[in-house]
Amino acid sequence: MTTTKRLAVLISGRGTNLEALISNARTYKVVEVLSDNPEAGGLELAKQAGISALSFSRADFSSRREQKLAMLKHLQSRNVDLVALAGFMLIVDADFVSYFSGRLVNIHPSLLPEFPGLNTHARAIEAGAKLHGCSVHFVDSGVDTGPLIAQASCRVLQGDTPDTLAARVLQLEHKLYPWAVNQIAADKIRLAGRQILIDESALQDGLTLGFSFPVVC
Ligand code: GRF
Repeated sequence: MTTTKRLAVLISGRGTNLEALISNARTYKVVEVLSDNPEAGGLELAKQAGISALSFSRADFSSRREQKLAMLKHLQSRNVDLVALAGFMLIVDADFVSYFSGRLVNIHPSLLPEFPGLNTHARAIEAGAKLHGCSVHFVDSGVDTGPLIAQASCRVLQGDTPDTLAARVLQLEHKLYPWAVNQIAADKIRLAGRQILIDESALQDGLTLGFSFPVVC
C-alpha cells in the first residue's frame, strides 16, 4: 500500500499551478506553501484551502542565503516528502537540491532544453518555433537543467502574442504538473542518478493524455 506523500509547494506569485496541484492531489497532500514574496496571491489561496502558508521575505533575513536556509529548515521540520516549485523565482541552493534530491521538481513554461530562463513565450514566438509547451523536471543546481520528466505541447499559431501563447501553455501546465507529481508520489516516476525511471503503466497513462517523455521515448 502506498502512503500519501507530504508535498510542499514553493511559489512567488499568483499560484494557479498551486491551485491545480491542490485540486488534483491523489497520492500526495499539499501540507505547506512557502513564498519568498509576502504579496504572492497563492498564499491567500492556500490559506483558504486550510493549508499552512508562510512567507519568507528577504527583508526579514540578513542575506539571500539565510532566507533560503530558513525555508529549507522549515521544510525539514515539517517532514516534507516532496517539494514542487511552482512559479518560484529564487534559485534553490545546492544544500536544498541535495537534501531533496529526487524529491524536488519544477514546472517550466517551455519545451526544455529550448528556452530556459525567463520570457519563454516571447522568445519562442521570436524564434519562429512551431511547437511550444511546458516541461516538468527534477531540479539540479543549474537553472532549468535538471533531468526532464515529461512535457506537454501545443502549436504556436499565426498571430499568437506572448500572452495568448502563455494562456494556452498554462492550461497544459495545470494538467501536466499534478499528473507528474501524483506519479512521483506513487513512486511510479523516480530519479536514479540523472536517469528517469518510469513505470510502464505511468508511461502509457501519460502518453494517452498526450504528454511526451523526451528522455524515455
Ligand atoms: C508558470 O508559467 C510556471 O511555469 C512558471 O511561472 C508561472 C507561474 O504561474 N515557472 P502560477 O503562479 O502557477 O500561476
